Amino acid sequence: ANCCSLYIYYIADASVVGVNYGTTGNNLPDVASVVRLLQKNGITSVRLYDANSTVLNALANTGITVIVMLPNNNIAAVAASPSAARQWVLRNVAAHYPATRIHAVDVGNEVFLKARSLTRQLVPAMVNVHAALQSLGLDRAVKVTTPIAFTALAESWPPSAGRFRSDIARPVMRPMLNFLLRTGSWLSINAYPFFSYLDQPDKIPLDYALGNYTPGVRDPGTGLVYHSLLDAQIDAAYFAMEKLVGSSSSSSSATVSAREDYFADNKQGKGTRTPPVHIQEHGWPHRGSKQVGKPPGRRLLASQTSAAASIANAKAYNNYVINRVLSGNTGTPHRPDADMDTHIFSLFDENLKGFGPSDIERYFGLFYPNQTKVYDFDFRGRALLAAASWCVANASVGEARLQAAMDYACSHGADCSDIQPGAACFEPNTKAAHASHAFNSYYQRYGRVTGACDFAGAAYIVHRAPKIGKCVLPSKVPIGV
Ligand SMILES: *[C@@H]1O[C@H](CO)[C@@H](O)[C@H](O)[C@H]1NC(C)=O
Ligand SMILES: *[C@@H]1O[C@H](CO)[C@@H](O)[C@H](O)[C@H]1NC(C)=O
Ligand SMILES: *[C@@H]1O[C@H](CO)[C@@H](O)[C@H](O)[C@H]1NC(C)=O
Repeated sequence: ANCCSLYIYYIADASVVGVNYGTTGNNLPDVASVVRLLQKNGITSVRLYDANSTVLNALANTGITVIVMLPNNNIAAVAASPSAARQWVLRNVAAHYPATRIHAVDVGNEVFLKARSLTRQLVPAMVNVHAALQSLGLDRAVKVTTPIAFTALAESWPPSAGRFRSDIARPVMRPMLNFLLRTGSWLSINAYPFFSYLDQPDKIPLDYALGNYTPGVRDPGTGLVYHSLLDAQIDAAYFAMEKLVGSSSSSSSATVSAREDYFADNKQGKGTRTPPVHIQEHGWPHRGSKQVGKPPGRRLLASQTSAAASIANAKAYNNYVINRVLSGNTGTPHRPDADMDTHIFSLFDENLKGFGPSDIERYFGLFYPNQTKVYDFDFRGRALLAAASWCVANASVGEARLQAAMDYACSHGADCSDIQPGAACFEPNTKAAHASHAFNSYYQRYGRVTGACDFAGAAYIVHRAPKIGKCVLPSKVPIGV
């Protein structure tokens, strides 16, 4: 028998890394060129700051997934009127789907920060947009969320102390999280380790902000060690959500009936359910300085930031993010099984953002407006795949040798829980499939040294991710390859 017919080769695709396509520039390429640029670079997901039909038409039939935005200035109308929500969805989603693979609607952008007066209308607007999608049969394909600024958290260090601002926690976040859970959506956060670093450059190690701080920082509450500020920020959001579990629903919220109170399920011992966290916007500028104050007293913090906002740092951070997602190493210390869907800000440098030509706001681009890369990156993860490897069973050695080797692996550190009867990777129930899981677990655990994939000749190394039944064999890839 052909030993390898069992395997379907493909890149692990549980999480997505895409880009934010901002258009605040007067020298950006035309939309058709942008779409070609995305395709040429293997970028499979974009987030827009509107639902521009020219852009959505250009993205049709490309396979690229798209997050559209309902702008803040439409929230009041949509919150007040289901038919206004339906009109918006008809024109901006239904008219384009499925040719354009719209998979989420952002209702507003950073409402708590940029449109505070709309705070109480946010969840009702989300509910109405979802109801409109549902009435059009689109609610399974298209999810509703809203990107919140990281400042929605009153506390974020240590992560276990994470909590939402008290003015929004019970009245807004709780019904929102309930809505996100009920509809299979996610909490979207715009988090910028870069700006956290800028605020406290003397306290935060640069490597920690860049995602690669070897000594790590320990959360005294949990004992968990963080090597990446981004992980700490994601976990702070998870802890903040968990703190709302079991708290009682705000009586002023008419959006959640008791029957739909998913958080109440948690209280009844059904586990700590929260929606997943997606970092919908983050990035690192490659030049410029930060602005402080408001005009006319506005000034640049030149000395501090010109060092942090460099091509080398932007390259390090954004490659860390891309490789992190493509490698499948998306879990955080507190949520080891979490996916990490994320969009990098931004596709291009945008010369009309911010204040003046030296403002960092203009220099978050992965590409210059002339479509050259600012630095190297690879959304296809070729370097990663070259570096990754897996250990699989050689079926032709026969079942007895596979069983003996599997017994050894499972009793010497391999995690064999997934291949027990009823567990996620029990099917297909063959020796070769089970042994592959056990061998690979052992091999990854012991650092993928060649000697860890021997098993007296019953195993061999492969360089493309094998999928067996419904299960992808995991690979721990060193970050920053
Ligand atoms: C939509 O995008 C196109 C192409 O970038 C642009 O020319 C047009 O002004 C945009 N429309 C709106 C309403 O923003
Ligand atoms: C593209 O623009 C950048 C920044 O202005 C410049 O350094 C680079 O030389 C340009 N590349 C080409 C091919 O024009
Ligand atoms: C699998 O085992 C057979 C029999 O021992 C051997 O001939 C073959 O080379 C092995 N295949 C691989 C890919 O190691």
